[in-house]
Amino acid sequence: MNDILPEETPYWQWLESVVGTILTAYGYAEIRLPLLEKTELFRRSIGEATDIVEKEMYTFLDRNGDSLTLRPEGTAGCVRAGIQNGLLRGLQRLWYQGPMFRHERPQKGRYRQFQQIGVEIYGAEGPDIDAELILMSRRIWRELGLGDLSLELNSLGSPASRAGYRDTLVAYLQDHRDSLDEDSRRRLETNPLRILDSKNPDLQELIAEAPSILDYLDEESRFHFDRLKSILDSTETHYVVNPRMVRGLDYYGQTVFEWTTTRLGAQGTVCAGGRYNALVEQLGGKAVAAVGFAMGLERLVALVRESTTRPAHHLPHAYLVMVGERAAAIGPRIAENLRDRLPGLRLTANVGGGSFKSQMKRADRSHAPIALILGDDEVSNHQLGLKELRTQSPQVSLSEEETIDRLARVIEAD
Ligand code: HAM
Repeated sequence: MNDILPEETPYWQWLESVVGTILTAYGYAEIRLPLLEKTELFRRSIGEATDIVEKEMYTFLDRNGDSLTLRPEGTAGCVRAGIQNGLLRGLQRLWYQGPMFRHERPQKGRYRQFQQIGVEIYGAEGPDIDAELILMSRRIWRELGLGDLSLELNSLGSPASRAGYRDTLVAYLQDHRDSLDEDSRRRLETNPLRILDSKNPDLQELIAEAPSILDYLDEESRFHFDRLKSILDSTETHYVVNPRMVRGLDYYGQTVFEWTTTRLGAQGTVCAGGRYNALVEQLGGKAVAAVGFAMGLERLVALVRESTTRPAHHLPHAYLVMVGERAAAIGPRIAENLRDRLPGLRLTANVGGGSFKSQMKRADRSHAPIALILGDDEVSNHQLGLKELRTQSPQVSLSEEETIDRLARVIEAD
């Protein structure tokens, strides 16, 4: 679990505002969900035989003896909220943001508390909305300067077609049981599709030669998948079909996808999702088509930090230096007046006194381009000194009105 320090938060704020703006522009509304849900919700949705439910949840009994879990992901809670609040009648485009918790083995790009921005759509069955999600995420990457992410796609078919595939896969793997590792042998009983996701190098050949789920799709899923691919083709969205991509959560059917990078080592998936048409009904609602994705913000921030200079939207436009008692007495009034007159002004006022020299040093360290200087002379003349800190221009004396004009230009150029 990480502290996100002030040095890093500008990247986070920038990323969050870029993503939030694009989601809003596509018509998505924000929903804010609790961090705690009943444990049962995750067991029933993510699936008993998944890594998350088997070994990664932070689960405890509350004072009433109810078993609660810190959410390991957002989809289950979003469905729960949708059912409970009657949101799932028409078409709903929702998004959420916040921390998720998984007791995983921490490593670069994998944490026990991590942040996601997730998107869920209810009431749309067609491949057009799957495509919209992918195109919208592509726009987000471009806006973040991450044009080099790769898209992998697969279809898991309908529950019936997947059951047929599962039998074929189990038969194939049974024939090669001796080559399987211990984990895969266990998975053969509980969740055989997950074996396709094994990272064990010794299994890769076996996995590569396994039957492909795409050869077992029912007609509707095949049509859905073909149509999605043709929309992606027509919008020049590059993708790779990966028939071995099965995802780590059990609620998916039909479309699944992942955006990945090679720049982060082993934890290269920055965004992942897919269709989960069966889940709403399974959790007690009326059957409603559903699809969504979630992006991992730590991983995206790591990429953004490599390629973008630190956003400057948090840095002050000006630092107010106040030297002497009279300046300290009227400085706060002047600072408040500037803030009143100049919405958007980021002004850091000196606190705690100090010599002219030490205050100028603080001004410099604040990264403000301008120091406003109030000393005895300025107080007497009803003026402010203005010194550009990043140029060699000499200090000038300005009236308060002239100062406001100068700062207005700085804000405008921001
Ligand atoms: P997920 O694949 O489990 O899907 O997680 C989505 C993304 O969250 C991952 O691609 C990764 O970027 C990030 N992530 C996951 N675990 C960690 C971790 N331990 N540390 C850092 N980042 C992590 C879901 O959570 C689904 N709810 C997505 C979804 C929404 N499907 C449909 N709607």
